[in-house]
Amino acid sequence: MHIPVMLNEVIESLEIKQNGIYVDLTLGRAGHSKEILNNIKDGKLIGFDKDIIAIEESRSRLQKINNNFILIHSDFKNFKNELKKYGINKVDGIIADLGVSSPQIDNANRGFSYNKNGFLDMRMDQSQSLKAWNIVNEWNVDELINIFINYADVKMPKKIANAIVKNRPINTTFELVDVIKSSLPAKIVSLKNPAKTVFQAIRIAVNNEFESIDTVLRDSIEFLKKDGILAIITFHSLEDKIVKNFFGDLTKSKINPKIPVQEEKKFIVKTLKPSKNEIEFNKRSRSAKLRILKKIKED
Ligand SMILES: C[S@@+](CC[C@H](N)C(=O)[O-])C[C@H]1O[C@@H](n2cnc3c(N)ncnc32)[C@H](O)[C@@H]1O
Repeated sequence: MHIPVMLNEVIESLEIKQNGIYVDLTLGRAGHSKEILNNIKDGKLIGFDKDIIAIEESRSRLQKINNNFILIHSDFKNFKNELKKYGINKVDGIIADLGVSSPQIDNANRGFSYNKNGFLDMRMDQSQSLKAWNIVNEWNVDELINIFINYADVKMPKKIANAIVKNRPINTTFELVDVIKSSLPAKIVSLKNPAKTVFQAIRIAVNNEFESIDTVLRDSIEFLKKDGILAIITFHSLEDKIVKNFFGDLTKSKINPKIPVQEEKKFIVKTLKPSKNEIEFNKRSRSAKLRILKKIKED
């Protein structure tokens, strides 16, 4: 089961208008979308997911509320062009709850989890050809080191990359976990499961996650109406850094501080973390950060 993370905070921060247009870029099991749909009357919800199972399951959940929604099976980096097809050029709110959903992790056959044995897949979109298997078995040492460093801050990346190349073919998640663990000193393995960051790096590479985030941040700003709100939940520091830097650049003063001019603000931002209660109730929320941006001036 997928428990939506920071649901109340997201709904409050979106300041939902009954006739507004809202975009959920990461539908999952419609945890956030259901609540948005409950709060709009004559408005519209548009949901994106590149996992077709998420689209189908969310459709039957949302239909129980009303039909004021459109679901689109696509990478969210295409959201601008997809919305234009429906004549939508501006929206009141956009939410993204990044990463993988619990149903994806819990299904061993999807190959996302280092705790469940399955074929090395890790595709959110099961129609794409690149799988984790291709990265693990076909990429060279330098390419592996590059994703380990840039996508997950993997410790001892060279050792792990060399061990992977040496032990090919590696077909399953458990085989990969064994190779990772046996490539490192026992003391390090006993401190923290090293498979966690390696799996994260491979998953981000398979799904080209960072490129999609970069694109969507830029396009979201253009697509927000005045007083429109962008809310993004991230789950690890590298992902959060992309959002933090982007919001930081937008809110940074462009005027020389020595010049005594009052600069008109275009955006306001804030960051929230899950409550202690939520973390106790839903462990997955532990590392979540919700960054909210409001566009307070017309383009
Ligand atoms: C954390 S889950 C969202 C859960 C959802 N908010 C809920 O409460 O049910 C993330 C979802 O976003 C999807 N996703 C991640 N990156 C995507 C992308 N670039 N384009 C489209 N969907 C994406 C994943 O397939 C997954 O279903």
